[in-house]
Amino acid sequence: MTRIALLAGDGIGPEVTEQARRVLTVVRPDLEFVEALVGGAAYRVSGHPLPPETLDIARNSAAILFGAVGDFSLDTLPRELRPEQAILGLRRELDLFANLRPAIVWPALADASSLKPEIVAGLDILIIRELTGDIYFGQPKGIAINAAGLREGHDTMRYDEAQIARVAHVAFQAAEKRSKRVTSVDKANVLETMQLWRDVVIEVSRDYPGIALDHMYVDNAAMQLVKNPKAFDVILTGNMFGDILSDQASMLTGSIGMLPSASLNADSLGLYEPIHGSAPDIAGQDAANPLATILSAAMLLRHSLADEAGAVRIESAVEAALASGARTRDLGGKMGCTAMGDAVLAAL
Ligand code: NAI
Ligand code: MG
Repeated sequence: MTRIALLAGDGIGPEVTEQARRVLTVVRPDLEFVEALVGGAAYRVSGHPLPPETLDIARNSAAILFGAVGDFSLDTLPRELRPEQAILGLRRELDLFANLRPAIVWPALADASSLKPEIVAGLDILIIRELTGDIYFGQPKGIAINAAGLREGHDTMRYDEAQIARVAHVAFQAAEKRSKRVTSVDKANVLETMQLWRDVVIEVSRDYPGIALDHMYVDNAAMQLVKNPKAFDVILTGNMFGDILSDQASMLTGSIGMLPSASLNADSLGLYEPIHGSAPDIAGQDAANPLATILSAAMLLRHSLADEAGAVRIESAVEAALASGARTRDLGGKMGCTAMGDAVLAAL
């Protein structure tokens, strides 16, 4: 049996991961799911959002299927005990440095985008965001009184060449299986860290002579993503720019309930989760769209279990379910979460 850690978490997390588990069980009967508490659900039982047992189970599995964490009723806790610390802790402890976010416009949903169908129809881009460095983690940071007696905030944008090189390799390898193009997004015109980013990406690209590399400043990339998103294939970028561009790209595709993600480390251990949160406004109502999590399960097969055929089988079943008219409320339909899971299972 291949062991998968199932970390359902809070809000709609248990509802959407349950549908993904059903789908995975059909495609891969050899998977064994080990459930563990995470987020607010874990805090309520153990006093910690990421208990050591949960981290152990995650470490000793082939992959992690993650729902979502977040519980507004715990927002008054000190920051280190809040549910969201669980996902940050998993990324840090497992060194999940490469965040893959595909933005795909499914043929059956071409009219769901906030842009015109002719701009987005057939869109299929992959954003690869570095997840463990950059201005979010660079030291020093803080708020202090400056020489003029004013409060002054500071954060430090910081990358070393090894951090840049390892995520660049992930991007070039992904491009080899796609249309053989990488666009590296930086701000090398004004930021030293980003000049290093560009230099190292160029150095790494010499290992991949079959891949075309181009560079774009982040402000222009934001514009091009809206103007002509199909000009991109693989976008490689740092933590902060990737945070913003990937949320922007998600809106090209319709609903937040459609977008999966993978966060990988150097040993192909990966954490797979929908990009949405715990959606407390619809939790417990069987109203969530489970497709982002089901598509995350497909990524799990592709990236952690090297099962491309299984991944494609799930993705085809999602497209078939949508083509047959299956729609949850976020997609303008009436179907519940379980019924959407049923529709994907029927298509399988
Ligand atoms: P959210 O993504 O949970 O919800 C935003 C809106 O999208 C809501 O109206 C929600 O109903 C809707 N939505 C989200 N997922 C959906 C789905 N699968 N089907 C249909 N509709 C869906 O973001 P929000 O409300 O800002 O945050 C809620 C909680 O989730 C917070 O505690 C936040 O910190 C946490 N969060 C956790 C993340 C994670 O676990 N990785 C990521 C983002 C937020
Ligand atoms: Mg974000």
